Amino acid sequence: MILNETFALADGISIPKLGLGTWRIDDAAVVQVVRDALAIGYRHFDTAQAYGNERGVGKGLRASGIARDELFVTTKLAAESKTYADAKSRIDGSLHALGLDHIDLMLIHSPQPWTEFREGGNFDAGNLEAWRALEEAQQAGKLRAIGVSNFERGDLDNILRHGTVKPAVNQVLAHVGNTPFDLIDYCRAKDVLVEAYSPVAHGAALQHPMLVELAAKYGVGVAQLCIRYCLQLGLLPLPKSTNADHMRSNAGVDFDISEDDMSALRGSGDAIDYGEASAFPVFGKPRQVAQSSANA
Ligand SMILES: NC(=O)c1ccc[n+]([C@@H]2O[C@H](COP(=O)([O-])OP(=O)(O)OC[C@H]3O[C@@H](n4cnc5c(N)ncnc54)[C@H](OP(=O)(O)O)[C@@H]3O)[C@@H](O)[C@H]2O)c1
Repeated sequence: MILNETFALADGISIPKLGLGTWRIDDAAVVQVVRDALAIGYRHFDTAQAYGNERGVGKGLRASGIARDELFVTTKLAAESKTYADAKSRIDGSLHALGLDHIDLMLIHSPQPWTEFREGGNFDAGNLEAWRALEEAQQAGKLRAIGVSNFERGDLDNILRHGTVKPAVNQVLAHVGNTPFDLIDYCRAKDVLVEAYSPVAHGAALQHPMLVELAAKYGVGVAQLCIRYCLQLGLLPLPKSTNADHMRSNAGVDFDISEDDMSALRGSGDAIDYGEASAFPVFGKPRQVAQSSANA
């Protein structure tokens, strides 16, 4: 069963192959969500400083009584944290909010602050400062592994060239119809595990006719198909759900998508359009509204 399987990170640390996403689950509600997931068998949880729910995630984990070494907790350093001193203090802030003496994996949430996401600004120096704070916290035993998120090839090269420790993970947007194959190949060549966030396209994949039809062929749900797709690409999927039935079903992915169907899914980029859900809705940045042709 997938919940009992692990990937090995480059430094030998085991990471459960399926994690529960917690974005947009508020701090009070997430306590029960974590408890439900633990009861189903989830042991890997993905939170972030930006989600404002580290306290609740930690509370749910601690209340379970499950041994700490059976749990895997990821959090993320705020995207705007680009100085050593700020990153250092925020790492301690996460430990405090989670109520844990160590975190299994901590990621730089984004190479740019959200307000400047993919705007072309250069944050290499700031990312190296944040990385140094993560490296030191790892050395001090506060973090078991460290990594990045939303990093493109150039962002990754900056850390690979100038950091002391290599990122264990790059967590990126990846789902059927929107899979960054080149970046995935590059990460793999550098021994960086790729985690797939929004593996069911924030839920938009669930209604897509092509996916509905293919899921029916395998006798599974669309979310299961999407999660299995990520796993067969060697990615670690992080589906979010607040519904225990959905969490259970998302862990039921012990089936094989045929090579032909994988090939069709891999090549579906142009055929699948999830509209707004295809793009990552950036924290704190007003959504860009596409100009209609009537305005052109
Ligand atoms: N690093 C980053 O910048 C970043 C960005 C975005 C996300 N993430 C991480 O990735 C996680 C997942 O991404 P996401 O939250 O954007 O979206 P997602 O996991 O692709 O989709 C979540 C949506 O799908 C629904 N869903 C899930 N399983 C289902 C099922 N079996 N049947 C029916 N509906 C189902 C959920 O509703 P229900 O609750 O009703 O099941 C929810 O509305 C986040 O929570 C977060 O941890 C990271």
